[in-house]
Amino acid sequence: MEIRRIVAAYFSPTGNTEKLAKAMAQAIAGPKLEFLDFTRPDARGANYEFAKDDLLIIGLPVYAGRLPNKILPFVQNNLKGDGTLSLPFVCFGNRDFGDGISELVYEQRNTGFRPAAAAAFATQHAFATELAHGRPNDEDIEDAKALALGLWEAVQKAGEVSGGGKSPGSLGTAEFAELTVDGSTPPGPYYRPLRTDGEPAVFLKAKPVTDTDKCVRCGTCARVCSMGSIDPEDVTSVPGICIKCQACVTHCPAGAKYFDNPDFLSHKEMLETYYTDKKQNVIWPCKL
Ligand SMILES: Cc1cc2nc3c(=O)[nH]c(=O)nc-3n(C[C@H](O)[C@H](O)[C@H](O)COP(=O)(O)O)c2cc1C
Ligand code: SF4
Ligand code: SF4
Repeated sequence: MEIRRIVAAYFSPTGNTEKLAKAMAQAIAGPKLEFLDFTRPDARGANYEFAKDDLLIIGLPVYAGRLPNKILPFVQNNLKGDGTLSLPFVCFGNRDFGDGISELVYEQRNTGFRPAAAAAFATQHAFATELAHGRPNDEDIEDAKALALGLWEAVQKAGEVSGGGKSPGSLGTAEFAELTVDGSTPPGPYYRPLRTDGEPAVFLKAKPVTDTDKCVRCGTCARVCSMGSIDPEDVTSVPGICIKCQACVTHCPAGAKYFDNPDFLSHKEMLETYYTDKKQNVIWPCKL
């Protein structure tokens, strides 16, 4: 059997996961390449099926030590594999990836995929932007490409081992070794954010505010909101749920969107005080 299609799928409000997913997919030459961006709610309304001869590269950011809870149902219910090989990965903002990658591997296995390699990349924190600032950088992109190419070489080798031919992307009946990643399965509780004084930071209901003097009324924030929660007619109004993903803040061309919730700001300061040590990417390469 040959891998005929590679799909790079990602949820990426501030763009880091997207960069890495694309770098990995584009490192592999040959099969047809498709992108599935499920950052916006409209893309999460559809179901996506994957065949035996597909390879899915799937990335999500870690939120509170796990996969983002409002996006988890999409991963569980809308993606269906058929013994499809996959490369799951997470991005984390230099604090901790917690159970994020173990949760993604677990969900992939539950939905018909065969995760064969995985990674947790340290990337710029969406709101504590001093952390892993500027990452993924060139070195991180090289790590990502090497992981994808390593998997690709193993796919070819598997084809040779099982007599499936030597053509690029040839995948025979040889089994990949069971992938073991760090974290618990099923995943443990979510991380509880703290303030600078060590007390719990309570900002579940916080929403972004708008500096109306700076706002040029371009509507970008409403278009990029991962929850579709900003009113396009009046962008100062956020009637829907806010998951603090920072898409509106990051993509606003006028720097007019921000959070002023005291507990949220205290948590950001706490992270930027105590999590400054550079974190390494953690890679679980493919083993035959
Ligand atoms: C609501 C929220 C919670 C987060 N929780 C964590 C966390 O528990 N650990 C961590 O290291 N980074 C955490 N991050 C940082 C993101 O994982 C990181 O910024 C990631 O690069 C965002 O991916 P994106 O650029 O594709 O949106 C969090 C970010 C947000 C917005
Ligand atoms: S309003 Fe909340 S959910 Fe929507 S883009 Fe902004 S931070 Fe994300
Ligand atoms: S993206 Fe910024 S400038 Fe554009 S409408 Fe939203 S707040 Fe205003």
